[in-house]
Amino acid sequence: MRILSGIQPSGALHLGNYFGMMLPAIELQEKGEALYFIANYHSMTSLFDAEQRRKNSLDVALDFLACGLDPKKAIFWKQSDVPEVTELAWLLTTLTPMGLLERCHSYKDKLAHGISPNHGLFAYPVLMAADILIFDSNIVPVGRDQKQHVEVTRDIAIKFNQQYGETFVIPEPQIREEVAAVPGLDAQKMSKSYGNTIEIFGEEKATRKKVMSIVMDSRTPQEPKPDAEKNIVVQLLKFVAPPEVARDVEDRLRAGGLGYGDLKKSLFEHYWNYFAPMRARRAELASNLDYVQQVLREGAERAGAVAGPVLTRAKRAAGLD
Ligand code: ADP
Ligand code: TRP
Repeated sequence: MRILSGIQPSGALHLGNYFGMMLPAIELQEKGEALYFIANYHSMTSLFDAEQRRKNSLDVALDFLACGLDPKKAIFWKQSDVPEVTELAWLLTTLTPMGLLERCHSYKDKLAHGISPNHGLFAYPVLMAADILIFDSNIVPVGRDQKQHVEVTRDIAIKFNQQYGETFVIPEPQIREEVAAVPGLDAQKMSKSYGNTIEIFGEEKATRKKVMSIVMDSRTPQEPKPDAEKNIVVQLLKFVAPPEVARDVEDRLRAGGLGYGDLKKSLFEHYWNYFAPMRARRAELASNLDYVQQVLREGAERAGAVAGPVLTRAKRAAGLD
């Protein structure tokens, strides 16, 4: 079984990225042949600062390795180091109906947020399809917001197979319902673009301040809160605290007597402790960047060895040989 996923180097990674995509991906590296990459080509649709892209890409590499991606088990590389995907994207784009892309929620959301779109942003799902199909991927672990893109990939693959003969494996998205949409500080989905994130490796003081400033309602500490499970801090606590701790906190809110200040302090402490070992590992990696670069170089070589023959297969099927 081949498992593939990618993450854009578009800013500091946050709890939504970690619980929605990275942790499932890290757990899956035990279950099959795992391939994970830094989607730097994708980041070009919305980030136009070259130095920032370079820095973010290294940060994603450090973050992912620190969180447990094991280069002995998973192939890990930077998308642009396996440029075959851009060639395959052209083969796929000619079979992609405009309407299929026009219906993509992620594209429509960006338009709704006032972003003036470039062609790359519109064609983004086709490049993502190439990423997935060029590795004969079976399973694609992602958060809920990427599900539609994997469905577009399936549609394109089916169409290619019908037009040019059996060429591509049809992939399945894998979405863990319990972490499909981690809420942000303002109760919308946590996302870089909403400015409502808790970063995985945020600076201590700034992150504590962010957590303490989460807006709560005006009920007094003594008032019972029968809707405790809807509280955003409780929801986040469930991700980083042991289940019995989260349950106890929820019960105390329900009964009345636990103030919001103490609740938020508890969230910060558990968050900080949860990531402590990974923070230490990240510092170690940051002082050994040669190792990190070597992991990415070797990953690109191994990924290229898988992608090359699939591209050749697709070109042959399409009469390009
Ligand atoms: P962002 O919304 O911050 O820009 P990305 O779109 O780069 O995040 O997402 C990278 C990965 O993390 C994707 O697989 C996405 O589904 C997942 N992800 C992002 N935010 C969340 C969230 N709040 N809950 C669950 N998964 C998320
Ligand atoms: N679009 C994904 C995101 O923004 C990143 C991505 C690019 C990806 N190519 C992929 C994810 C292939 C899974 C498979 O999060």
